[in-house]
Amino acid sequence: MTIDDIKERIKNISESYKEEATGGYISGDGPIPCDILFVGEAPGKTEVSEGKPFVGMAGKTFEGFLNSIDLTRSKVRITNTCFFRPIKIKESKTGRESISNRTPKPSEIELFREVLDEEIFLVNPKIIVTLGNTPLKRLTNFKAIGECHGELYFNEELKKHIFPMYHPSSLTYNRSEDFKTIYEEDWQKLKAALKSI
Ligand code: URA
Repeated sequence: MTIDDIKERIKNISESYKEEATGGYISGDGPIPCDILFVGEAPGKTEVSEGKPFVGMAGKTFEGFLNSIDLTRSKVRITNTCFFRPIKIKESKTGRESISNRTPKPSEIELFREVLDEEIFLVNPKIIVTLGNTPLKRLTNFKAIGECHGELYFNEELKKHIFPMYHPSSLTYNRSEDFKTIYEEDWQKLKAALKSI
């Protein structure tokens, strides 16, 4: 499978999915092959309109921390676990529609199992950095990011190093100084892990 085949698969899966509302789709971004692969959850509105992962609010946070460990977007590959934007549509009493993001359902993540596996195969990274619980559960046996963040693991099945991190948007939800310190330390631990592999 080539990257163009992957893009075609994402298009076909997303356009034929009718079970729930979705708001467009994207594929991964960055060089192939590449030593470092970041895997997020699913694109949001800005990602779909710009056609790239992590370019919205969470993306700005992500890129700032990436730069803080002397990496740039051009040196890493970034992708997602679910390639379409999962949305909820709510109608107010006055009939106005509001659209928001939702977490992808397990069945939606399964739709893209083969696509993500193929991307990992093509990218052939030395390390996969999972961002938040969704890619963590998809690519490891851990149940929650709180129990494993900031440490380097080896996935025997994938034969890859895995480094679980909190999702950058968790900084928006958890505004405590303690959490910010933990998150910053995890990026420094990633920097050290990259040197060790
Ligand atoms: N959050 C994600 O998990 N992925 C994106 O691409 C953007 C925001």
